[in-house]
Amino acid sequence: MADGMIDVLSEKRALAEKRAYETPLEELNPAWASAFRDDAHWAYFERLRREDPVHWTPESNYGPFWSITKYNDIMAVDTNHEVFSSANGIALPPKANLTPEMLKALNRASAPSFIGMDPPRHDEQRKTVSPALAPAGLERMAPQIRERAGLILDSLPIGEPFDWVDLVSKELTTMTLATLFDFPFEERRKLTHWSDAMTTAPGHGPVATFQERMATLADCRDYFMRLWNARVNAEPAGDLISMLAHAPQTRNLTMDEYFSNVALLIIGGNDTTRNTISGSIFALNRSPDQYDKLRANPDLIPSMVSETIRWQTPLAHMSRTATQDFEMGGKTTKKGDKVVMWYVSGNRDDSVITDPERYNIERERPRQHLSFGFGIHRCVGNRLAELQLQIIWEEILARFPEVRVIREPQRTHSAFVKGYETLPVIIPSRN
Ligand code: HEM
Repeated sequence: MADGMIDVLSEKRALAEKRAYETPLEELNPAWASAFRDDAHWAYFERLRREDPVHWTPESNYGPFWSITKYNDIMAVDTNHEVFSSANGIALPPKANLTPEMLKALNRASAPSFIGMDPPRHDEQRKTVSPALAPAGLERMAPQIRERAGLILDSLPIGEPFDWVDLVSKELTTMTLATLFDFPFEERRKLTHWSDAMTTAPGHGPVATFQERMATLADCRDYFMRLWNARVNAEPAGDLISMLAHAPQTRNLTMDEYFSNVALLIIGGNDTTRNTISGSIFALNRSPDQYDKLRANPDLIPSMVSETIRWQTPLAHMSRTATQDFEMGGKTTKKGDKVVMWYVSGNRDDSVITDPERYNIERERPRQHLSFGFGIHRCVGNRLAELQLQIIWEEILARFPEVRVIREPQRTHSAFVKGYETLPVIIPSRN
């Protein structure tokens, strides 16, 4: 660990470990947002992988659900969209915290985006946006991402502590997203604000109350409606909004459906990549031998990027709903059951990944991980995420001998988005 980095959470982790092993198995619920915030969730999954890899939680804040915790079982669920449907939600919904009025408001506000659809509608809508995120589109974007990465890094203070999440991770991913949407550049931080408001519970992020969250979403919706109206009346262009407004498969979407796809792209393009950028700094500080190897050999950047995506697992889970009874690991998931694929656990499954606790930037098969999912919903932005990481690290190594973490990061209070609210660092000097 880097000098001065103090693990203030070790007591909480020890307590969580005790609870994970002392709770009767039939009552065990691994979906604790607070455990994720305290980096204390590991023991729950370690126990489940060993003792009950396909596990039923009969009662929780999220209702009853199955936990799939081993790599190959997760792959089997993710690649079987006929049995495991995305149409009734793709993440655990914290419904128990909401009043009936709040639930009604939320349902009104949320039409499905294509991540929450099954074929054929899913495939049609995915096809509309995928060209912007395919290699040719990315090649066009790369010089701009590099230029922006350089500007961000050149503006950082030297020898003074600052928050890496705020000044680098958020800035780079928001700039990239603004480019993809052709969003007014000077207002790009709105995208970060909206994304954070959508993914964190009121009181644990930028909005304090449920009402404030709904108002923030309404602002976001109005803004993107104005962009749609402008683009639909202009010539087709290469940005995502223009593509949605002109493509035959999506030009007749209702405004609710359009907004859901926008929200999907805002969240997909923001949090995940942001948390991987922060995760790479944190992981390399925790494993200084790996940081030394990277400095000595920048050709290791691509495998370091993939290893960070595995190690971090920016989305802890995705969930599905069973359309029929299905046998797995000696258990039967019943039609209508919620089935949660814990990528965060599968990525630590030592029956598939050698020494999975170790952060190792020289793995033989670094892209062997579950973090992007598999099957028809496999992350459509995965190459863009890797490209941003690749570029920012080439530019970091060209400028700074070290980015040093000076305190334990503050983690996100969520069992879905696995990331960092703050990561205090110092850059002692330039090259
Ligand atoms: C390290 C960064 C990222 C991670 C870990 C990640 C992870 C994921 C995961 C787990 C899924 C669902 C897979 C499944 O259900 O099988 C997904 C889907 C998706 N991601 Fe990403 N993502 C990342 C970056 C991005 C970026 C940069 C974008 C776009 C700008 C993006 C856009 C999407 C979209 C649109 C989907 C829905 C795909 C579909 O339903 O067909 N993601 N992502």
